[in-house]
Amino acid sequence: MNPEVVTIGLGYIGLPTSALIASHGTNVLGVDINQKVVDTINQGKIHIVEPDLDKIVSAAVSKGNLTASTKAIPAEVYLIVVPTPFKGNHEPDISFVEAATNGIIPLLKKGDLYIIESTSPIGTTEKMQKLIFASRPELEGAIHIAYCPERVLPGNVMYELVENDRVIGGVDELSTKKAIAFYRKYVKGELHGTNARTAEMCKLVENSSRDVQIAFANELSLICDKADINVWELINLANKHPRVNILQPGCGVGGHCIAVDPYFIVSDYPMESKIIGTAREVNNYKSFWCAEKIQNEKLKFEIKHGRKPSIALMGLAFKPNIDDLRESPAKYIVNKVLQNDNNGEYFIVEPNIKEHNVFKLTDYKIAAEKSDIVVFLVAHDVFKHLTLNKVVIDFCGVKN
Ligand SMILES: NC(=O)c1ccc[n+]([C@@H]2O[C@H](COP(=O)([O-])OP(=O)(O)OC[C@H]3O[C@@H](n4cnc5c(N)ncnc54)[C@H](O)[C@@H]3O)[C@@H](O)[C@H]2O)c1
Repeated sequence: MNPEVVTIGLGYIGLPTSALIASHGTNVLGVDINQKVVDTINQGKIHIVEPDLDKIVSAAVSKGNLTASTKAIPAEVYLIVVPTPFKGNHEPDISFVEAATNGIIPLLKKGDLYIIESTSPIGTTEKMQKLIFASRPELEGAIHIAYCPERVLPGNVMYELVENDRVIGGVDELSTKKAIAFYRKYVKGELHGTNARTAEMCKLVENSSRDVQIAFANELSLICDKADINVWELINLANKHPRVNILQPGCGVGGHCIAVDPYFIVSDYPMESKIIGTAREVNNYKSFWCAEKIQNEKLKFEIKHGRKPSIALMGLAFKPNIDDLRESPAKYIVNKVLQNDNNGEYFIVEPNIKEHNVFKLTDYKIAAEKSDIVVFLVAHDVFKHLTLNKVVIDFCGVKN
């Protein structure tokens, strides 16, 4: 029996989505180019870390509602959930979406629904529509094509997949309606219909908005450093205004969404996206500035004490209390500091991971005790309880 739904891409988003749909008794075939991923899922196991996902996948596989394969077969609904990284020059790379689409073009038939969930530059859904009709012109007006971005928080995916509102944009009104009817079966959050271009832009704007707001806080931290003002106290006081809500500065912006998605706008609309582009620059510059600041504090210590200091670099993750190092500014800073001084004594700390393939990790309490200078790069909760009587460089407000 053919599945009702085929999901292309079984990663952090594609697998939970497939598992959720299958848990409703819908027959789902998950497709991935990675044979290991396919084998793992067919054994009822998972290859990513996400709370509750293992139980849902295991149940769906044992009931026969979820299977995985490296090859798609005909279905009624196709979900494209493959990566959309950027290239070296920050241009979006939609080649995975194209490859996934090319793989299912021969399978499409009248009445089918094709949905892109991958974060995509504006116009991608229309591009894929053209790609489909170029080789299958008889399908024009006979299939439904839509874009529906994902906005889940890793670590809370199974809850947010169901509860979050979704924005759904078809290439025409009927496509929007069909896609809304599809998601209605699995999602409790509100489903907001629009067109494909607006839905694509909406996803990019959500993350760009966060990036711009963080850039504002990071810019304030640079000004305050020069003006000898405590930025944490300043922001706290400014936020007492009923209509002001400034975010907290840090040592940059990381992760695979906020640090990536704004480039999808800047790359296509460079003249118009000045604030969005500058926010990226400010947030990247903040990481560079932090590395320079550590270097300066080190030299000050050397002049004062006549010897090199030992330095604890506290945190590698891209945000507090997680083990995810993707696009992490803290990791960038650690790399840069070590490059500048490859025979200094450094203790590298990341309490949320046991070992790292490049850095030798030290327990955070030992590192804090043994070092002359403690640098907070990530505001992990465990750091808040440390009592320190030494030079502290706090880029993320651990001690404020
Ligand atoms: N992870 C998140 O928190 C998150 C949140 C919102 C949006 N997104 C977006 O969702 C999309 C998917 O992200 P992810 O985190 O799930 O990626 P991922 O890297 O975890 O998984 C993608 C999977 O697709 C597979 N793949 C690549 N090309 C393929 C092809 N042609 N056919 C079949 N499989 C293929 C890969 O082997 C991989 O297993 C991206 O556009 C991302 O920006 C991710």
